[in-house]
Amino acid sequence: MKLCMIGTGYVGLVSGVCFSDLGNQVICVDKDLVKINKLQNGIIPIYEPGLDELVKRNIKNKRLSFSNDLKDSIKKSDIIFICVGTPTKKGGSSADLRQIYGVAKDLSKSLNKFKIIITKSTVPVTTGDEIEKILLTKNSKNKFAVVSNPEFLREGEAIRDFVYPDRIIVGSNDKKSNKILKNLYSPLIAKGAKYVNTSRRAAELIKYASNAFLATKITFINEIANLCEKTNINVDDISIGMGLDQRIGSRFLRAGPAYGGSCFPKDTKAIISTADKFKTNLSIIKSVIKSNKDRSNLLLKRIYGILNNKIKNKKISFLGVTFKANTDDMRDSSSLKMIPELSRKGAKVQYYDPTGFKEEFKNYKNVRNAKSISNCLEKSNLVIIHTEWNDFKSLDFKRLVKNKKIIIFDMRNLYSPQEMIKKNLKYFSVGRGFK
Ligand code: UGA
Repeated sequence: MKLCMIGTGYVGLVSGVCFSDLGNQVICVDKDLVKINKLQNGIIPIYEPGLDELVKRNIKNKRLSFSNDLKDSIKKSDIIFICVGTPTKKGGSSADLRQIYGVAKDLSKSLNKFKIIITKSTVPVTTGDEIEKILLTKNSKNKFAVVSNPEFLREGEAIRDFVYPDRIIVGSNDKKSNKILKNLYSPLIAKGAKYVNTSRRAAELIKYASNAFLATKITFINEIANLCEKTNINVDDISIGMGLDQRIGSRFLRAGPAYGGSCFPKDTKAIISTADKFKTNLSIIKSVIKSNKDRSNLLLKRIYGILNNKIKNKKISFLGVTFKANTDDMRDSSSLKMIPELSRKGAKVQYYDPTGFKEEFKNYKNVRNAKSISNCLEKSNLVIIHTEWNDFKSLDFKRLVKNKKIIIFDMRNLYSPQEMIKKNLKYFSVGRGFK
């Protein structure tokens, strides 16, 4: 099938490349010519394990191409995926849909034959209706179908999530489009993915409700972890015990720092804003946002406690600063709250991240990027394990820290407290008793 992905950000690029790998002819379009030139030469603008290999393979077999000519790309394609950004509005909480509607206007001028127009970007309920209105200003109803087909890819796991999705949601009442899309996804359905056809509005809401629910699940276990700390219980036991109930499920029940990233913080705010528009109070999601906001302060307080409130001139080492492992993404990472605060209090912060230097910290005088784990940990007063990269899972702290009084605060519970005690290390973790 001939596909066009508008927007070569995370969603558009990963989906486009994966669709081409399934045998489709895919053009990925972007306004940014520099980005397009790079992509044409196999240079990937985002960090996603395995993506560069897929890009090179599909460019070589001529199924994947990149262009900045929107009109021409639309004309050559039968299915158009809108994959542009829907960031939070400046100074507000709703989604900024200017790019979506801009694309809809461009599309309205270029429909040379029937096209399926799909929103893959995360868009609030009724956005599909608005796109349809824009298209109708210049085209008759039989020239297009507007469909919602949200993506559920996780950064760092995006290729696997694309190839083995739990479900594929297609929101449309248009029989012709449904048949074509079921065919497009048939290789994934054959591997076990559930294909669910809903109304367009339902598909739009499924995406927000899913992200809000996952954020709720994480926040829930984080609050339970707080209780575990007071009662000397291991929160990992709670996650296992609860997760084995299939109605609950074990995934996204890992306690840790505040959740971050480009999706949960943005989408939880946006769903509340949509609900406000329809005069509905989503009180649970509101309290999730608040609890998550408070979490970084709570963990900061634990750091102060661990260091007996003596922060000035303390060498604090962060292992990982991105919002999670296997990504270089800093958006809404809890390190953005914790590191500046520790620096303000006079700590000397050094961080090591497998994805390298971070612009976000460059203006903090006493925050430095270490080039290696050993360089980051040497002579450190406190080691904070902030993200769960494999690189951090079996470190010999005694050899690396070279300091008699090693203190470790493992915010991802990567190590066993018993093992650390055996090694004579002062070890703190999350939700596993606070001694
Ligand atoms: C999230 C969703 O998981 C995807 O399904 C969705 O497609 C995507 O948003 C999106 O809307 O585009 P992502 O933001 O890449 O994916 O990251 P997640 O793996 O979901 O992690 C989000 C945050 O939750 C991270 O800060 C992570 O550390 C935290 N988390 C996750 C936990 O603290 N505990 C867990 O058990 C799981």
